[in-house]
Amino acid sequence: MQSETVIKKLDLLDRCMPVKTVVEYGGMWGVDNLYATECVKRWGVKKVLSIDFYESDNWKVQKRHYPQITFIKGDFRNKDFMKKITKKYDLGICYDILLHQPECYETLELMLSKIKTYFCFAQPVIEEKRVSFKNTMVFLPGSQEKFQLRPYLLNKDIKIFDINRVDPSHWIWAMTPTLIKNMLKSLRWKIIYEDAWQGWLPKISIWKMYRCIAKKEK
Ligand SMILES: C[S@@+](CC[C@H](N)C(=O)[O-])C[C@H]1O[C@@H](n2cnc3c(N)ncnc32)[C@H](O)[C@@H]1O
Repeated sequence: MQSETVIKKLDLLDRCMPVKTVVEYGGMWGVDNLYATECVKRWGVKKVLSIDFYESDNWKVQKRHYPQITFIKGDFRNKDFMKKITKKYDLGICYDILLHQPECYETLELMLSKIKTYFCFAQPVIEEKRVSFKNTMVFLPGSQEKFQLRPYLLNKDIKIFDINRVDPSHWIWAMTPTLIKNMLKSLRWKIIYEDAWQGWLPKISIWKMYRCIAKKEK
């Protein structure tokens, strides 16, 4: 059975279909290119480009069944790597990605530069009412404990801006929905659908799952 998060992420794609071509950023860890493969199976997408710097064993086994999917091992933060991608895709998928990018605005711009029409986005966000200002981004050094996405902001013993405590594999930004929306707006993408839900995040939490579809402005 698919989790609520997977269902919500697939539902965003469903709202944009039909499209012919898709690019997925970071579709591998824990899901083995699930969203890319569903694009082919459910909606008959003809071409999918999937970029990740990690290739899972499950994907290595499955990939022969999906000639429509081109997987490239690479870092979509890297401008030189992204220059080599010359095609543009109808739809882009960015699920649980932006919060891990050190240069998140530049990375968002690079990702969007390869997309023609729809951008499907989902990730945990910090609730608007928990911060004093709109458009907020909080740096969190990341937890050493597996599967813990708890902001250390709440823990007095941890200095949140101490660079020596950063764990890059769990590196995380807490972003408000207003920040995400305004970053997209500044890059000339308009939100056409959005909502939030609790998902797998702890109930007593300052986090929510946020998802949206942005459309490129003409
Ligand atoms: C948290 S997982 C999200 C997986 C999937 N998108 C989902 O929604 O469940 C992040 C994935 O993005 C990849 N990733 C993160 N930053 C990346 C980058 N700059 N370039 C390439 N892959 C990246 C990681 O290797 C990992 O597979």
